[in-house]
Amino acid sequence: MTRIPQHIALIMDGNGRWAQQRGMPRSMGHRAGVEALRNIVRLSDNLGVKYLTVYAFSTENWKRPRSEIGILMSLLKEYVVKELDELHANNVKIQVLGNMENIPDDVRAAYVLACEKTKNNKGLVLNVALNYGSRAEITQACKRIVMDVLQGSIKYEDITEDLFAEYLFTKGCPEPELIVRTSGEMRLSNFLLWQAAYSEIVVVKELWPDFNEQSLLEAIRIFQNRERRFGGI
Ligand code: FPP
Repeated sequence: MTRIPQHIALIMDGNGRWAQQRGMPRSMGHRAGVEALRNIVRLSDNLGVKYLTVYAFSTENWKRPRSEIGILMSLLKEYVVKELDELHANNVKIQVLGNMENIPDDVRAAYVLACEKTKNNKGLVLNVALNYGSRAEITQACKRIVMDVLQGSIKYEDITEDLFAEYLFTKGCPEPELIVRTSGEMRLSNFLLWQAAYSEIVVVKELWPDFNEQSLLEAIRIFQNRERRFGGI
């Protein structure tokens, strides 16, 4: 309990396969995935995790059939609408990582409201990566840095790794010590590429809807048994 990572990031993969294995439509897998997320947010908070970042919808997920995008968007909205009061009561601060412009108006409005309502909370920070892609995030940071140099608010010599990180969506969050991906895939899939430089990555076989409290504790235990050297010896 004394070595709980302060920032955990989750790649919630395998909802579709979970549903297919049961002969159900993919939407049921996503719905079960939301249930799993609900429990994991509660447990993370109880364990004293300070930041939890979840990959909810990537810039690449727009390639999915329109019907599936619609289901994911309505689940995303439903989650934040239903959970807001409880999350707020538990002092959780909700933040969105990603470009909100292309998100349907009602979903965006629900997240804007949730972020606004919880912005002064001091408990768990729940980062929802929504229309998030790491390459887009890094490209956008470069463009904004160039603009700031051209406009004179920063100087070329000021550009450091720390300054660069201030231009990312994760500004103000420490880097994740632990990234967990479910469903056995060994990829980052355009998630937190800058921030993951020294993250421990734990890939578990379970599909996301099956990922429960025990699974998170097991991932943390694996993390605690890793030796982190950060390039040293
Ligand atoms: C990957 O499974 C999962 C997603 C693309 C979406 C993750 C979303 C949720 C868990 C629900 C909504 C999130 C929040 C924050 C309320 P997949 O569809 O790629 O599964 P497959 O690889 O088996 O097809």
